[in-house]
Amino acid sequence: MKYTKYVASAAGLLGLGALLVACSPAEPKLESGYDFATPETQAMQDDDFSNPGFMWVDIGAEEWATVDGEAGKSCESCHGDLSTMKGVTTSYPKYNADDKKMRALQHQINNCRTEQMKAKAWKWESDQMLGMSAIIKNQSKGMPLNVSIKGEAAPFYEKGKEFYFQRRGTLDMACKHCHIDYPGVKIRAEVLSNGLPNGFPTYRLKWQKLGSLHRRFRGCNSNIRAEPYERGSEEYTNLELFLTHRANGVAVESPSVRK
Ligand code: HEC
Ligand code: HEC
Repeated sequence: MKYTKYVASAAGLLGLGALLVACSPAEPKLESGYDFATPETQAMQDDDFSNPGFMWVDIGAEEWATVDGEAGKSCESCHGDLSTMKGVTTSYPKYNADDKKMRALQHQINNCRTEQMKAKAWKWESDQMLGMSAIIKNQSKGMPLNVSIKGEAAPFYEKGKEFYFQRRGTLDMACKHCHIDYPGVKIRAEVLSNGLPNGFPTYRLKWQKLGSLHRRFRGCNSNIRAEPYERGSEEYTNLELFLTHRANGVAVESPSVRK
């Protein structure tokens, strides 16, 4: 957004409007929620030391090396250094043939815990799960999202898409009505963004803690007085697939900071 404004004003100044049109890229990329945030919030995210999300990243780092469960293993025993996770999350949610459905990163982490470690699954919104998903996603920071909706993933994408455009709740609104129709417009104290998933888990100043994407879905559903679904449910995982595909090409920011 800032770049576009800068270019527009510079072009106006030099009278190069026509040239600019000729040179501008065909597809305007969707913008991260970061671009709609205040400079103060952006500054908090920019500096790993002032970003409160890193308190959970530290929890994730500790868990990565912690032996748990009957198999006597840690994540590290099998996967080695955390850096082996670089790039992994850009393709999640991913179709899994055993489950015959999509796995969000959290499902994959819990699958490794229960099947590989013989340890207990973590709750979706627990500090351990938030921390582990934050540190794994942080390995891909700056890399573009790149989920596939081909082959086996296609029907799940269609379901997620249907959810996104479906009116619901007593306000009878769809996700689209805010995040496609009105990005940049102020709603109460907040500026609407494209509503993308690239910063999650996100430290929200309102929550005073890190929170998952599915927690955000629940909040957006409740705001229009619609019944929220469970975190990790198929409905929200398919919605995450649709949304992540919509954001393909946008860089991972996890853990981001938002109002
Ligand atoms: C006993 C070995 C073992 C342990 C311990 C283990 N994993 Fe895994 N993990 C695997 C194997 C094998 C796969 C690939 C096959 C599969 O999908 O199950 C995998 C896959 C993954 C993937 C997906 C990689 C991709 O490219 O899609 C992630 C993420 C992951 N593990 C995270 C973890 C985390 C976090 C822990 C600790 C909580 C952990 N694993 C513990 C063996 C292990
Ligand atoms: C009544 C308007 C409204 C509707 C409808 C709505 N949201 Fe939101 N949503 C917001 C507001 C306000 C925010 C906070 C500011 C922002 O990032 O847009 C937000 C934030 C988000 C974010 C976080 C973006 C970020 O960068 O952190 C995601 C993701 C999101 N919404 C997804 C959805 C989905 C999916 C739906 C449909 C289930 C939905 N929203 C429906 C108003 C809405």
